[in-house]
Amino acid sequence: MRVVRTVLELREALDYMRMGGHTPVGFVPTMGYLHEGHASLIRKAGEMANTVVMSIFVNPLQFGPNEDFSSYPRDERRDLELAEREGADIVFIPGVEEMYPEPIRTKVSVDSLTTQLCGASRPGHFDGVTTVVSKLFNMVQPDYAFFGLKDAQQVAVLRRMVSDLNINVEIIACPIVREGDGLALSSRNVYLSGEERTQALVLSRSLRETRKAIEEGTVRTVEEARKLLESVISSSPLAVIDYVEILSFPDLETLEGGSLLSDAEGEVIMALAVKFGRTRLIDNNVFIPKEVHALV
Ligand code: PAJ
Repeated sequence: MRVVRTVLELREALDYMRMGGHTPVGFVPTMGYLHEGHASLIRKAGEMANTVVMSIFVNPLQFGPNEDFSSYPRDERRDLELAEREGADIVFIPGVEEMYPEPIRTKVSVDSLTTQLCGASRPGHFDGVTTVVSKLFNMVQPDYAFFGLKDAQQVAVLRRMVSDLNINVEIIACPIVREGDGLALSSRNVYLSGEERTQALVLSRSLRETRKAIEEGTVRTVEEARKLLESVISSSPLAVIDYVEILSFPDLETLEGGSLLSDAEGEVIMALAVKFGRTRLIDNNVFIPKEVHALV
């Protein structure tokens, strides 16, 4: 595994792999502090590509002024061990100076998909994501890029960016990896106290219970589903809801509160953001109501 820190070294390492016929190239962008969720993306990349590139870069552009950019957890040595173990070929770890040698004047911004959910709570966040991912795509020029559905809105936004700008990469969306008790893995889980960690289980539990109620037919409308999600989350005294939304996926359009879920065409997302102390956690479930109803 090669570790490179400059764009020049990255291009040389990639040229070497391409010249040796080690294509296609798969790319896994991350902000480090790697866990099993990231590992699953590297493994998927290994199945589909002959060269696996991972980047580790905590991107200042996607953090708000009062967010955790400076305290975001970092552990390069551990990250490199995990990357090597999971089969990455090239790890790109640029510093902020390498990625942004001068203040950036060109930004990539996707309309409509970035004003709701996390885009509403984190203004400017997705412009930071689309800008850095465009830069990384231009540096790596991968055939495939792997993203987790843990950040489902990020997947929707990046798919649209790639399609709108004719970027020659296929976005592969990978399932959410969870702890045994249901908590979705996140680098930010380390911020949680023991008690917050226990109470945070209401996120995945609310999604599971609501999904089950929809399957059993006891929840039929968007409003009923939202109420059930909210009531399960509110059973945890430490939970402070940021948003609980049910939208079409991947267009992220509002579904009328009173409308029947089974009327929705295509996929629907139940998306949550909830704060426990200073830690904001997200979770979601994407499903096809028509198929759920066909089961019962
Ligand atoms: P980061 O939060 O490090 O996540 C990197 C990738 O890992 C993302 O595609 C994310 O969805 C995926 N991931 C995180 N937790 C996961 C889990 N529990 N199961 C499956 N996949 C999971 O997302 C970012 O970094 C940044 O926004 C980035 C795309 C790198 C741009 O800076």
